[in-house]
Amino acid sequence: MSVPAHPVPARLLDATQCPTPHVSSMEQYKEMHEESVKNPVGFWRKMAKSNLDWISPFSDETVTQGSFSEGDIAWFPQGTLNVAYNCIDRHAAKDPNSVAMIFEADEPGNHEKITYGTLLREVCRFANVLKKHGVRKGDTVAIYMPMVPEAAYAMLACARIGAVHSVVFAGFSADALRDRMVDAQCKILITADQGLRGGKVVHLKKIADEALAQSPSVERVILFQRTGDEKVPFNATRDVWWHEECITQRPYCPCEPMNAEDPLFMLYTSGSTGKPKGVVHTTAGYLLGAYTSTKYIFDLHPGDIYGCMADVGWITGHSYIVYGPLANGVTTVLFESTPTYPDASRFWQVVDTHKLTQLYTAPTAIRALRRLGDAFVEKHSLESLRVLGSVGEPINPEAWDWYNTVVGRGRCAVVDTYWQTETGSIIVTPLPGCTPTKPGAATLPFFGVDLAILDANTGKEVPYDGSEEITGVLALRQTIPSIARTVYGDHNRYLDTYMRPYKGFYFTGDGAARDTDGYYWIKGRVDDVINVSGHRMSTAEIESALITHPACAESAAVGIADDLTGQAVVCFCTLKSHHADEASVAAALRFQVRTQIGPFAAPKAIVIVNDLPKTRSGKIMRRILRKAAGGEVTLEDIEDDDAIRAKLGDISTLADPSIVKHIVEKVKKAG
Ligand code: WT7
Repeated sequence: MSVPAHPVPARLLDATQCPTPHVSSMEQYKEMHEESVKNPVGFWRKMAKSNLDWISPFSDETVTQGSFSEGDIAWFPQGTLNVAYNCIDRHAAKDPNSVAMIFEADEPGNHEKITYGTLLREVCRFANVLKKHGVRKGDTVAIYMPMVPEAAYAMLACARIGAVHSVVFAGFSADALRDRMVDAQCKILITADQGLRGGKVVHLKKIADEALAQSPSVERVILFQRTGDEKVPFNATRDVWWHEECITQRPYCPCEPMNAEDPLFMLYTSGSTGKPKGVVHTTAGYLLGAYTSTKYIFDLHPGDIYGCMADVGWITGHSYIVYGPLANGVTTVLFESTPTYPDASRFWQVVDTHKLTQLYTAPTAIRALRRLGDAFVEKHSLESLRVLGSVGEPINPEAWDWYNTVVGRGRCAVVDTYWQTETGSIIVTPLPGCTPTKPGAATLPFFGVDLAILDANTGKEVPYDGSEEITGVLALRQTIPSIARTVYGDHNRYLDTYMRPYKGFYFTGDGAARDTDGYYWIKGRVDDVINVSGHRMSTAEIESALITHPACAESAAVGIADDLTGQAVVCFCTLKSHHADEASVAAALRFQVRTQIGPFAAPKAIVIVNDLPKTRSGKIMRRILRKAAGGEVTLEDIEDDDAIRAKLGDISTLADPSIVKHIVEKVKKAG
């Protein structure tokens, strides 16, 4: 896999055309990376002192403590600071008129610039609203908002007063929102009347009301008016309007001094089991990770206009729309729409209109735009761009090449950034000014990141000397400031999921290879997590949604490869009783997943079967389902024992071997 590498485009290193990159040679990268892993205390002490503003300094002696094996990680534990101060006040003090955010609304041509001065006032007003409604340091606040500036104001207002936000992606269903509010015992919900995306209305308040009916901890709902639709339900004893509340509040609110290890936010994510985990990030370490990674990986310079097209409902939006860019004092774009609304030139229009210097998006968007043809891209200049980022899933080389040549015109750095909700910030990535890139490789570890490839069977490190490629599961050998500290309400689950599988290491859940140049290639999840268009979900979560439907007896969800979405979900279900019209039952089951989790989780196909392939001990043989769903086994194969063995391995432990033929037939029928 040691393919020829793309050198750094000459333009990026030409001082007459671009600002000099923060890291401009591989020697410099290697030196900094080596220092960061050999002497993490010295490295991060320097970074934390020179880049963050502290209310009271941390102690030079206890920069970090704790370990993966004990799960008691802390960074800068004696220091106090405030994240909102670091993201707003310090920049507003220098230049209140510099632009903090550009809001690009769903309808093209509708945009708004928000300066650091305005951001400070808006966040302060809203922080005072939260206080008025009884929110105090340590309280949990749910945010279920469309991609509007107020979503970021709400997050930053929480950070300012020490409340812990739990942002729930606005594509989640009422049930999913309820589960998250109940688990986090949120006191307040911040939402909007409706959202707008791709010209369509999302009925946020209506969904929120359904969730609220079963979320007893929520005492107050603060409702932002996005569309002003008069039919939106309003409960006068519980709900208040954002604009009516803010207008009565003073536009200054002091910052709560937070301990470095006080929680900043939690964000729910899927793991191997059905119940999503509230991953908790703390104040200083998270902010430092977001700050340094955004600065170096997107090579931020003063005046940059940086656009991450993600949603604030995911970790990418937290670290790379809100906290990272604002901590750096650049301009960040909040994009409310979709890549294809009103047509496939939307991103490129945004780039040229606002002169974006960085663009950060997901492989699924890149693939979708590539399919629609180069003409949409070619008619735009895209001259302002220096760095193109990719995140969320492995990027296939074809999509990478297209991004590099058609969008980047060969003059931009392409950074394939690998990380997770749990790591808080990017951990494997090229740096724009120095790393030669290979399409499909996330390349090399970021500062402070000490990677290990482990043998999943023995748990031992796979030896590597550069003479041949190695593969295994990816783990971290030492802690980084932005790593998650716990799972809300269930620290044991945190230990079980990340720390106990390989003693002394943090386990990512991903498989990876390291090639003879030392580059890392991420291969995807080795657990029961499926990644559809960069949206992470677990098979167990989908299965438990299915079996709550009265018709469904048993279910098994598997991930298969998909050209557009990376992976797609196919579900196999048995029914409690016979139904003549299986297509309509399948449709109802598909709808069930939509309503229990959210539209983005709707399976690509539901296959109704008489039985699941089980061993005599009752264990479902998922590999049979995966291969059948992926079309890897044909009906001809069934008649041929050798072909079956070659494709499915040993199936002699199946309780009923004839089930394989039945399943393959059903898959064929379902198309
Ligand atoms: C999982 C984490 C981190 C932001 C978005 C997703 C996969 C993420 C890459 C990449 C290959 C990637 C991994 C990871 N993933 N980025 N550049 N190359 N795989 O966050 O929802 O926590 O998902 O996404 O499988 O474990 P998340």
